[in-house]
Amino acid sequence: MQFKLKIWRQKNTKTKGNFAVYIAKGVSSDMSFLEMLDLVNEDLILKGEDPISFDHDCREGICGTCCMVINGLAHGSQRGTTVCQLHMRSFNDGETITIEPLRARAFPIVKDLMIDRSAFDKIIEAGGYVSVDTGSSPDANAILVPKDDADKAMDAAACIGCGACVACCKNASAMLFVSAKLAHLSLLPQGQAEWRGRARDMVRAMDKAGFGNCTNEKECELRCPKEIKSGNISRMNRQFLMALLRE
Ligand code: FES
Repeated sequence: MQFKLKIWRQKNTKTKGNFAVYIAKGVSSDMSFLEMLDLVNEDLILKGEDPISFDHDCREGICGTCCMVINGLAHGSQRGTTVCQLHMRSFNDGETITIEPLRARAFPIVKDLMIDRSAFDKIIEAGGYVSVDTGSSPDANAILVPKDDADKAMDAAACIGCGACVACCKNASAMLFVSAKLAHLSLLPQGQAEWRGRARDMVRAMDKAGFGNCTNEKECELRCPKEIKSGNISRMNRQFLMALLRE
């Protein structure tokens, strides 16, 4: 397969970027999108040119670092799939593919397709950890958790913090991410003791980092590679208001 790639190139945070055109030749339909970019980079290195910088780590859909915008969509058009799990067979031979970094004020571009996601780290840091003494490991059935709550907590815990929700939102809102992180703790007994402080501090850290507010577009739910539900946002808003009432 062969593709015409329009890729965003930008030297650093301070310089202006622009699209550069590359031809990716000899691409196997079984290659992942990142392997296709590796192939392009090998060619650039052989020519003595600067390879394209892009984030990646696990290449198994669990770390979230590979998120980029492909043909205008975070992680590309395939639902419930990260870029590293996207295969070239889902594109047409000869197609032109436009590749850009996630664009949001809180995610400055470091170089080319790489962005700085440390704003997410600051939100997680603000939430802290479960600091109450929960004693030694209890028997698995000592604290009963309703199945519905356990399922919701596990679904929320699937968030990989990739930033796709921010990139696809017209307000650059991080509410899907923050609400998922809050939900997976506050729905389970060990995380319930501190939910008020956690909700208040994480929402404030989110606002301070420069993310926008949710206006119920629900694009985030649609583009999330882990299909996190936007209902978590309603729960987070309720928790935040209840935390403020206790201040
Ligand atoms: S590289 Fe880890 S999710 Fe894609």
